[in-house]
Amino acid sequence: MKMVNSSKISEFVLLGLTNTRELEIIFFFIFLLAYAAIMAGNLLIVVTITFDSHLHSTPMYFLLGNLSFLDMSISTITTPKMVTDFLRENKIISLWGCMAQMFFLHFLGGSEMTLLIVMAVDRYIAICKPLHYTTIMNRRVLTGSVLLSWAIGFVHTMSQMVFTITLPFCGPNVVDSIFCDLPLVLKLACTETYVLELLVIADSGLLSFICFILLLISYIVILVTVQRRSSGGLSKALSTLSAHITVVTLFFGPCIFIYAWPFSSFSVDKFLSVFYSVITPLLNPIIYTLRNQEMKAAMSRLRTQHVSSRQTF
Ligand SMILES: *[C@@H]1O[C@H](CO)[C@@H](O)[C@H](O)[C@H]1NC(C)=O
Repeated sequence: MKMVNSSKISEFVLLGLTNTRELEIIFFFIFLLAYAAIMAGNLLIVVTITFDSHLHSTPMYFLLGNLSFLDMSISTITTPKMVTDFLRENKIISLWGCMAQMFFLHFLGGSEMTLLIVMAVDRYIAICKPLHYTTIMNRRVLTGSVLLSWAIGFVHTMSQMVFTITLPFCGPNVVDSIFCDLPLVLKLACTETYVLELLVIADSGLLSFICFILLLISYIVILVTVQRRSSGGLSKALSTLSAHITVVTLFFGPCIFIYAWPFSSFSVDKFLSVFYSVITPLLNPIIYTLRNQEMKAAMSRLRTQHVSSRQTF
């Protein structure tokens, strides 16, 4: 369906994950469940950390609470629309809905990448400079680094979106994915986007790649430090860090793949984008809560507090 070049497009059509009706219904239930689990799990983490004074004053949990908040938000940008779209024949999104989706996706995604680096630095200081840990990671530094991650996310998304919103779209308007994202939408602009494509590769692709390498280096440094100190500490550090490495790989792997080679039209991209919009937000609570004694203890403390306060009133 080729439109006349002069007519402006006011909406995009998303193709979704599949065009098989039965599969769409199965996906509807799977992703609905996944989204419910993402919201419940991450909300539980945020509430527990916010109301437990011990956890809230522990740097790692303070950062983790903020990571959970970001995970919830990233998932909310993409998943509810995707879930309801599984039941729709025509998956339509308005031009401004599409722009908003890309803006928030990169805003929150950029913040999350920065926060993951802050969390790695936090682990590095805790393990390699334990004596200075509480003085370095004080409340001011923590609040500052959370604000910094939001600021970096904002600059990251603005640097791409200021150019994207001025692009003319005159058809075709089909986005072969589950939500709007820069590489696919740029391809639909009816103007030369070569420079903008390079900007996205540098800004999103290269940035994800550099963050990922930095994180891997920080994990290796931590492991080497721990191993040099004692052989027994290695297994404990490995089990803590393996959780971080899993999350980081699942988050960055797809991002690097999608943005560093964005304009070669792989149709696997839409399956990969499920990873950072659904799988990582789902995994974080599982990895950090179910495996974590301190977190579980705080949750039961919170429950008893709640029960006893209800009895007194
Ligand atoms: C996240 O960061 C903000 C601002 O630094 C802080 O006030 C808040 O308590 C943090 N959230 C959690 C759940 O720790």
